[in-house]
Amino acid sequence: MKVVVTGGAGFVGSNFIRYLLRNVPDCRILNIDKLTYAGNLNNLSDFFTDSRHHFVREDICRQSTMEKLIRGWEAVVNFAAETHVDRSLMEPEKFLRTDVWGVFSLLEASRRCGLKKFLQISTDEVYGSLIRGTARESSCLSPSNPYAASKAAADLLAFSYYKTYGLAVSVVRSTNNFGPFQHPEKMIPLFITNALENEKLPLYGDGRQVRQWLFVEDNCRAILMILQRGQTGQVYHVSPGVGHRNISIARMILRLLGKPESLLQSVKDRPGHDRRYCLSSEKMRKLGWRPEWSLEKALAATVKWYQENPGWWGALKKGAFQEYYRKQYGGQTC
Ligand code: NAD
Ligand code: TYD
Repeated sequence: MKVVVTGGAGFVGSNFIRYLLRNVPDCRILNIDKLTYAGNLNNLSDFFTDSRHHFVREDICRQSTMEKLIRGWEAVVNFAAETHVDRSLMEPEKFLRTDVWGVFSLLEASRRCGLKKFLQISTDEVYGSLIRGTARESSCLSPSNPYAASKAAADLLAFSYYKTYGLAVSVVRSTNNFGPFQHPEKMIPLFITNALENEKLPLYGDGRQVRQWLFVEDNCRAILMILQRGQTGQVYHVSPGVGHRNISIARMILRLLGKPESLLQSVKDRPGHDRRYCLSSEKMRKLGWRPEWSLEKALAATVKWYQENPGWWGALKKGAFQEYYRKQYGGQTC
């Protein structure tokens, strides 16, 4: 298997490469990543010297460069994206550039090079908030924020390449991931690392928003399965099924760390905050996938990883990101 992984220095991408190297002995991986604030070479340190993995620092928006790089490879799995909803509210252009134009650039390069497979990594956010019920792969898209809208646009563009040019596109929409190497701007690592530092856990609004938390390794297994056995022209949902309120997750983290509930802090809500996401993953289950990690076991493993790796997240939290957060939400309580 010769696969180009874009965004492989980020959270899910680096976990996916690690998963491939462990489970597909004869794989060859070309990892293309721009190394934005979210890309981190430390995420790759345990396989950086593995000869099956080759890293190139590049921007997916540079189409002619992409064409040169991916020629001769079999498949593209595109994780590269701007991914943080809060940032998309402040700097939407960056999201349009990478999450739409970047995908166009990769699709066009893949078409010209005659690639055998293009996996676009998308998200549950494209459906917007569901008050009740479950989104199926055929449900209407109704994104609420610039991040979600850019991802939805990319999905549609990817399918236009399937219909028009016959490019073998599949789209993977997973629910919220968590696990090792996730940037501490995202809810679970932010809450774990704040609790470790005895800082408040900022819950947006009433904290009763519902997400289906998926352990990243379960997602990586699903993505590999789709790459190997998924049909082209299809969307696949990856979801553990059960949804949990943010406040319940925050309490579980505090319990795991033996910290008091007085660390919970209600802060001003995110504008346009989606109340509930809920994906059905029947199609994946028919393909033979099911989550292997319970929420409790995966959350405990994640907490342990952040406890054992303060050097990894300490530097990220001290940098620009903390200043960014202070500007956006700091000190504003409900
Ligand atoms: P991340 O922010 O941790 O990583 C994104 C990576 O993309 C970084 O390494 C960054 O440097 C790279 N990148 C950004 N712009 C680039 C560009 N122009 N060219 C090349 N590389 C660029 O994101 P993540 O959480 O790992 O998410 C990966 C993918 O999975 C995204 O497409 C996201 O929409 C999707 N997804 C994530 C989740 C989640 O909970 N993390 C859930 C569903 C879907
Ligand atoms: P996030 O990790 O940003 O993912 P997404 O917006 O893609 O679901 O947020 C997950 C949930 O956590 C979402 O409902 C927003 C909420 N949240 C907080 O309550 N406080 C925070 O500081 C952050 C970052 C998120």
